[in-house]
Amino acid sequence: MDKNRKHSNHYAVMLLCLTAFCACNEDELVIKNTPADSMPSAGTATVYNIGQSAYDTPAPWVTGDLLRRFYAGDLLYDRNRGTEGGKGPLYAGSSCGSCHSNAGRTLPSMYTPDSGSGTMGFSSQLVYITKQNGGFFRNYGRVLHDQVIKGEKAEGKLAAWFTEETFSFPDGETYRLQTPHYRITDWYADSIQPEDLIIDVHIPLRHVGMGQIMALDPDELRRLAAQSNYPEYGISGRLSIISERNKQYVGMGGNKAHHADLTVELGFSSDLGVTSDRYPLEVCEGQSQNIGYSHYGIQITTREMEDVDLYMSCLGVPARRNVNDPAVKRGEANFFRAQCQLCHTPTLHTRQDAPVLLNGTRLPWLANQTIHPYSDFLLHDMGKGLDNHVRTGSAYSYEWRTTPLWGVGLQQTVNSHTRFLHDGRARNFIEAIMWHDGEGAVSRELFRRMNKQERDDLIAFLNSL
Ligand code: HEC
Ligand code: HEC
Repeated sequence: MDKNRKHSNHYAVMLLCLTAFCACNEDELVIKNTPADSMPSAGTATVYNIGQSAYDTPAPWVTGDLLRRFYAGDLLYDRNRGTEGGKGPLYAGSSCGSCHSNAGRTLPSMYTPDSGSGTMGFSSQLVYITKQNGGFFRNYGRVLHDQVIKGEKAEGKLAAWFTEETFSFPDGETYRLQTPHYRITDWYADSIQPEDLIIDVHIPLRHVGMGQIMALDPDELRRLAAQSNYPEYGISGRLSIISERNKQYVGMGGNKAHHADLTVELGFSSDLGVTSDRYPLEVCEGQSQNIGYSHYGIQITTREMEDVDLYMSCLGVPARRNVNDPAVKRGEANFFRAQCQLCHTPTLHTRQDAPVLLNGTRLPWLANQTIHPYSDFLLHDMGKGLDNHVRTGSAYSYEWRTTPLWGVGLQQTVNSHTRFLHDGRARNFIEAIMWHDGEGAVSRELFRRMNKQERDDLIAFLNSL
């Protein structure tokens, strides 16, 4: 009871601060961004905020009780959990927002200017560990939990270093590609031999359009996959099919399109070490250091998790900006000339029926919308350079889901960095494009052969998304 009262007071204060803060800030920003120069990205869920909270603004139809639950979910999402909040004993982040700050991508510590090489404190990445034969290590699971509450030992610590090569465009401008390399030190128990181990590091994904992604029409994606066959460009996208509990789903979420939902339960369990009805055991269950660990029990309710689900589903999608700028218009034409749209599909539609959340709440506003995600949500062979050597769901190690590009131009404003690709190795748009290989090779080559003006214009277009 007491605890609840404390939360609701805290929540009321937060709500006041949030509304007060957003109201003044947003007005200012919306006026600068005249609707004439912008374009809706997600139908009625489009928002015109171009500031730091551009990814973290409720859709305009989120009002009344829905808005109250949106902020309750936002709070649960961002609140740093202490041990009393059920965090740990082992975890990867203290809150969802510690990795997805402002509903975006927190800058991973290994890419901060002063990190250099060596082991990391809190990294804001997910470090996946797999055996060479594809299996998991006993008692470690798939995610390396590198954070711990007092008195525990982390499963291990990630160390990263980089090699770098310089290349040039035909017009002489140079660019450099950086390849990350990883090692794990300080294993908590049995040391794992490097030759048995595959390390796969992912930076967080932006939450732009999560509700719309989950409301995509699987039949439209099926048709897209059937059409996505362009032998002249070496492109053939593949639908990700997930089999779970004897049912089949079309995967849309995650870099391997290996999720068919917003993974809230999994996130709380595996990333934060918070138990729920679905995952009642701590993630470190079975580790010798935690035998007899006494804090079992349910640390977050499905109602609370549904609020987090609702929060992510009801986020607005930032409108496109500067759409009448001549450079942006030329850049858009160049995007098509380079055939980027064959994977980064500009327009898709959501289903006719309303999406349903964890506890059955329906969101009719997400149905039947024309959206501009700039992704086909299919898997593509992206070549050797991006191969992570692990099979995930139905995706082969060299296959990745086309990253949706809506909101990508605001990542610098929202998260103060321009790290791209699944592991953040690209430092800017040019590097992200130049890493495209396999099915993306023709597109990359078409971009490489453009002159500087054409390349700059294409990037101006990406910045307008
Ligand atoms: C330690 C950092 C970390 C924490 C903590 C974390 N995430 Fe993530 N999240 C990631 C990474 C990394 C990915 C990308 C995984 C991949 O490659 O598919 C991701 C992906 C996601 C996605 C899929 C996005 C998409 O575009 O499909 C959702 C949804 C998500 N996280 C929700 C959550 C929620 C909810 C929580 C809190 C319960 C949470 N995350 C906590 C790092 C984190
Ligand atoms: C064959 C399909 C395909 C084509 C063609 C393609 N892409 Fe991609 N793109 C992808 C995939 C898959 C990823 C994710 C790769 C990863 O994270 O390792 C990606 C990632 C990106 C990213 C990084 C996004 C982020 O937030 O991390 C950018 C930017 C991008 N592509 C731009 C382009 C541009 C510009 C073109 C045309 C010159 C293009 N792509 C052509 C499939 C494609």
